Amino acid sequence: MKKIKKIACIGAGYVGGPTMSVIAQKNVDVEVTVVDLNVARIAAWNDGDLNHLPVYEPGLDDVIKEARGRNLFFSTDVDKAIKEADMIFISVNTPTKTYGKGKGQAADLKFIELCARQIAAVATSDKIVVEKSTLPVRTAEALKSILDNTGNGVNFDILSNPEFLAEGTAVSDLHNPDRVLIGGEDAEAIEALVQVYEAWVPRERILTTNLWSSELSKLVANAFLAQRVSSINAISELCEVTGANVDEVARAIGQDSRIGSKFLKASVGFGGSCFQKDILNLVYIARSYNLTAVADYWEQVISLNDHQKSRFAEKIIQTMYNTVNGKQIAFLGWAFKKDTNDTRESAAIYVADHLLDEEATVIIYDPKVSAEQIYKDLDYLGTRSAEDNRRLVKVVESHHDAVKGAHAIAILTEWDEFKGYDWQQIKNGMKKPSFVFDGRKILNKKQLVNLGFDYYSIGE
Ligand code: NAD
Ligand code: UDX
Repeated sequence: MKKIKKIACIGAGYVGGPTMSVIAQKNVDVEVTVVDLNVARIAAWNDGDLNHLPVYEPGLDDVIKEARGRNLFFSTDVDKAIKEADMIFISVNTPTKTYGKGKGQAADLKFIELCARQIAAVATSDKIVVEKSTLPVRTAEALKSILDNTGNGVNFDILSNPEFLAEGTAVSDLHNPDRVLIGGEDAEAIEALVQVYEAWVPRERILTTNLWSSELSKLVANAFLAQRVSSINAISELCEVTGANVDEVARAIGQDSRIGSKFLKASVGFGGSCFQKDILNLVYIARSYNLTAVADYWEQVISLNDHQKSRFAEKIIQTMYNTVNGKQIAFLGWAFKKDTNDTRESAAIYVADHLLDEEATVIIYDPKVSAEQIYKDLDYLGTRSAEDNRRLVKVVESHHDAVKGAHAIAILTEWDEFKGYDWQQIKNGMKKPSFVFDGRKILNKKQLVNLGFDYYSIGE
C-alpha cells in the first residue's frame, strides 16, 4: 500500500487553505504544499502577522501557527509542487459561467482544465489527482482524458473528495466532519486518501463510493440545504400575513426528528459562493439530460431566494412611507453570514442595490469586510457607475458611525456583536421614527419595541 509523503494542493482559497492546513496539522509526517497563481494571496498566507491571513476563520490562526513552516508550506511555484507530490488536490474556483453555452448556469471548468493540463505537462511520476473543487457529475472522465492524452506516460488515478465545510465554522467542521466522502475506481488510491483522513477522522465516518456518486452528492447536499432555507423563507412570508411566527413554526416542525431542527432559520436570503452556483449547475445538468421537471423543481429554490431578498428591500421602502430617496439607511453586516469575511453572493449586496436604485444613502459597517471589497461587490453588478456607488454608499469603521443620524437600520449579517450594542444610545442618535429591519432575527423584539423602535423582522 502506497503511503503518501507529499501532498500538493492547487488553489489557496477558502477551501484549499483551511483544508490543507488541517491535513498538515494532523499528518505531521506528510509535507503539504499549497500553491496558487495569486501572488498576493500566497504572501498573505505566509504573513508573520496571523491577522493578515487571506481567509478569516475562527481557530485558523492556531492551526497555521502549529503547522506552517513545519510540514505546511504556501508557494507560487506550482510546477515544483506538482513534480514532487504523490497526491495532488485540485481546489480551484469553479464559478458559474458568464459567457457562451450554459452562461449563468453551468460551472466554468476552465480553471480545472488548466490545472489538469499543467499536471500532465509537469508530472514525471505517478500521481493521485483529487478533485476537491465542487464539480459537475462526470468531470473526472474529462480530467482523466486530458491527463492521459497530454501526459508523459505516467499513471494518474483520479479521486473525488468534495469538501463539506461551511465558512465561519471551517476549522471545527474540518476537525470534526459529519463524514468525509471519497469516490474513486482504484482501491489503492482510495485507501491512500483514506489513510490521510484516518489520522483524525474515525473510519466509519469516511464513506467511499464510485466517482459519479461522490461528484453528484456534493451538488445534492448543497441543494438540499439551500432548499430547507428557501422552504422556511417561503413560510416566513405566509407567517407575516397570518399572524404566525416563523421561529415558532420552525421550532414546532424541527422537533420532529424526521425533519430536524438545523437549517430552518428564516433570513433575508441565503448567500455564499456555493448554494446558488451549485443549484444552478444541478439545474443545468438536469436540463442537459432533458429532465425538465427535475430542473424546474430545483430552480424554484433560487427563485424563492431572489424573491426573499427583494421582498426585504421592498418592505424597507414600503414601511418608510414608500420613499427612501435621500434617507440614510445603516447596514449592519455585509458578509454572507457571521464569522467570515467572504461576501460572495451575500444578500446584503442585492438589498443595497435595490435601495440604491431608489436613491437611498446606505452607510455600511461590517466587522470583517473592507470598504474596498464592498465597492467591488457593488461595482461588479454593473447597475450604476462606480462614481454613483461611491456617492450613495459610505463604508464606516464602527457601528456608531453607521447608525448616527440614520432613518433606519437594516441587519444583513447575524454578527454576535450586534446583539450586545447599546440600543438605547443608538435610538437616541437616530432620526424619528427609528426603524429597525432585522433580516437575521437576532435582536430582542420586545426590548426594541420598548425602547420605541419601529421594529420589523422576517416572518412575524
Ligand atoms: P477561491 O476562489 O477562494 O479559491 C480558489 C483559488 O484557486 C484562487 O486563489 C485562485 O487564484 C486559484 N487558482 C485558480 N486557478 C488556478 C491555477 N490554474 N493554478 C493555481 N491556482 C489557481 O475558491 P474556494 O471558495 O476555495 O472554492 C474552491 C472550490 O471549492 C470551488 O469548486 C467551490 O465550489 C468548492 N467549495 C467551496 C466551499 C466554500 O465554502 N467556499 C465549500 C465547499 C466547496
Ligand atoms: C455551504 C454548506 O453548508 C457547506 O456544507 C458547503 O461545503 C458549502 O456551502 P456556506 O455557504 O459556507 O456552506 O455556509 P452555510 O452555513 O451553509 O450558509 C449558507 C447561507 O445560508 C448563508 O447566507 C446563511 O446565512 C444562510 N442560512 C443558513 C440561512 O439563511 N438559514 C439557515 O438556517 C442556514
